[in-house]
Amino acid sequence: MRIKKAVITAAGWGTRFLPVTKSQPKEMLPLLNKPIIQYSVEEAIACGIDLVVIITSMGKRAIEDYFDHHFELESMLERKGETRLLEEVRRSSNMVDIGYIRQKEQLGLGHAVLTAKNMVGNEPFFLMLPDDLFENRELVLKEMMRIYENYQGSVVAVKRVAEDEVNRYGIIEYKQVADRIFKVIDLVEKPRSEDAPSDLAIMGRYLLPPEIFGAIQETSPGRNGEIQLTDALRRLLKQRPLYAYEFEGERWDAGTLPGWLEVTIALALQEPEIAPRLRKYLHKISSETASAV
Ligand code: UTP
Repeated sequence: MRIKKAVITAAGWGTRFLPVTKSQPKEMLPLLNKPIIQYSVEEAIACGIDLVVIITSMGKRAIEDYFDHHFELESMLERKGETRLLEEVRRSSNMVDIGYIRQKEQLGLGHAVLTAKNMVGNEPFFLMLPDDLFENRELVLKEMMRIYENYQGSVVAVKRVAEDEVNRYGIIEYKQVADRIFKVIDLVEKPRSEDAPSDLAIMGRYLLPPEIFGAIQETSPGRNGEIQLTDALRRLLKQRPLYAYEFEGERWDAGTLPGWLEVTIALALQEPEIAPRLRKYLHKISSETASAV
């Protein structure tokens, strides 16, 4: 089985990055010289996706412009013989078919997903939250696809989190069925640590059946008056099994300032042109900090 469509939600306010997100979509903040959202688009392409559906909102035009052609810029680079830059610029506009839908009111992640209903149609699809970045970028979606096929159920990506972090995530109650694979029995959005059914937290990758749209439509606003995807998943759980895949490797939340800094450094350390200098700098400041203590 091949999943052909991926939905990327990018309509949120990005309040944790204010004031820069006042006039700049969070998804367009750079991770090195590419915007955050490009990493999710590349991840979807690596998994064989034909159509990426991006959910945007007011003030997010820069995302559409970024994935479009920029003729003046391209002809200037061509004139100057900047072949490598020209290739990079063209690559961002030729990557894959991208469709856009505006979420006209930010009524929550569940509501954002529902806006993609007609574009997705009657087939399973990936849902990707672009803030979440994975060390094993190419593996997570592929493994989720395999689980979807083998177990005939929806799949969420999960990772173990510390006790004081469970209140930031959707947390699952589970029964383990194989190495790194769990059958979800129940799930709860942002529980207090004493109420959390486990330490396995949902991280922004989902493989969902089209029935999720009906489940969202039946879901009333929950926490913060938003239509929560977790509540719709609980509803769906009554009709269809849901599995969780505990992926290997690091995951970063680029939607917070510390997470964005960490992933920036991790990515820079993989770049041969930047890594030696950055490593030297990190070494210098860490030994200065150590001697100051
Ligand atoms: P977040 O909870 O991270 O919210 O949304 P946010 O607006 O992006 O960032 P903060 O919390 O204000 O700093 C999780 C995902 O759901 C999308 C976001 O774009 C992000 O991908 N989302 C959230 C929507 O598309 N629409 C919404 O109404 C809410």
